[in-house]
Amino acid sequence: MESSEDTLLYEGKAKKIFTTDHPEVVRVAYKNDTTAFNGEKFEQLEGKGRLNNKISSFFFEQLHQQGLRSHFVETLSETEQLVRRVEIIPLEVVTRNVAAGSLSKRIGWEEGKKLPAPLVEFYYKNDDLGDPMLADAHIHMLGLASESELAELRQQGLAVNDCLKQLLEPCGILLVDFKLEFGRDAEGNLLLADEISPDTCRFWDAATQARLDKDRFRRDLGGVVEAYEEVWRRLTEGVK
Ligand code: TMP
Repeated sequence: MESSEDTLLYEGKAKKIFTTDHPEVVRVAYKNDTTAFNGEKFEQLEGKGRLNNKISSFFFEQLHQQGLRSHFVETLSETEQLVRRVEIIPLEVVTRNVAAGSLSKRIGWEEGKKLPAPLVEFYYKNDDLGDPMLADAHIHMLGLASESELAELRQQGLAVNDCLKQLLEPCGILLVDFKLEFGRDAEGNLLLADEISPDTCRFWDAATQARLDKDRFRRDLGGVVEAYEEVWRRLTEGVK
């Protein structure tokens, strides 16, 4: 699966992307590197890459079964998957069901307050600027996405939300919010990309509100990998 011909195309904070012998397909290797606050906080967490690869593959497969396309092709190994090559749009599409994190800070709603309806927001994926929130007008001005593409991104954020909630509810997990990234393939079609994992979602235990996601790392709560393991266990075995 790993060939000496493979070239590293891109290294992000949590993943590396390599070429394959197929020009339209790349290999994603999930790392144990864990960062927060724009890379200021950093730790290697043994097992995190493996769990995020499994969880993300699982979600992409389930979305596919519900008719939601993504870049995902197949799981390659414990820490790697094959995905279609896309040009990532520098927008973070965040969908929220419950107030938490930066939304709670911005509008003063306590963490845990249910939103009247799912909310989709856009952030500029730009580390130098600290990923600021963007309004539609900014997105158009920056030439990041057309009006129809933005409508599609909103619709996909909501559709993925519905599907993930359906999968997580029976596992006793509350989907608080999550971040998606999209790319354009060679024909310019929008395609869901990146990952869907406890690094990019807020998962709370539905009964206790215990954090089962990267907030354990961001907020120094400990037991980060154990929480990711618990998400994987519940997805595959159900709640016990
Ligand atoms: P926020 O409340 O900090 O804006 O985060 C919203 C969601 O986006 C949350 O599920 C975590 C996820 N997220 C990322 O995936 N990457 C990031 O860099 C940040 C800040 C948040």
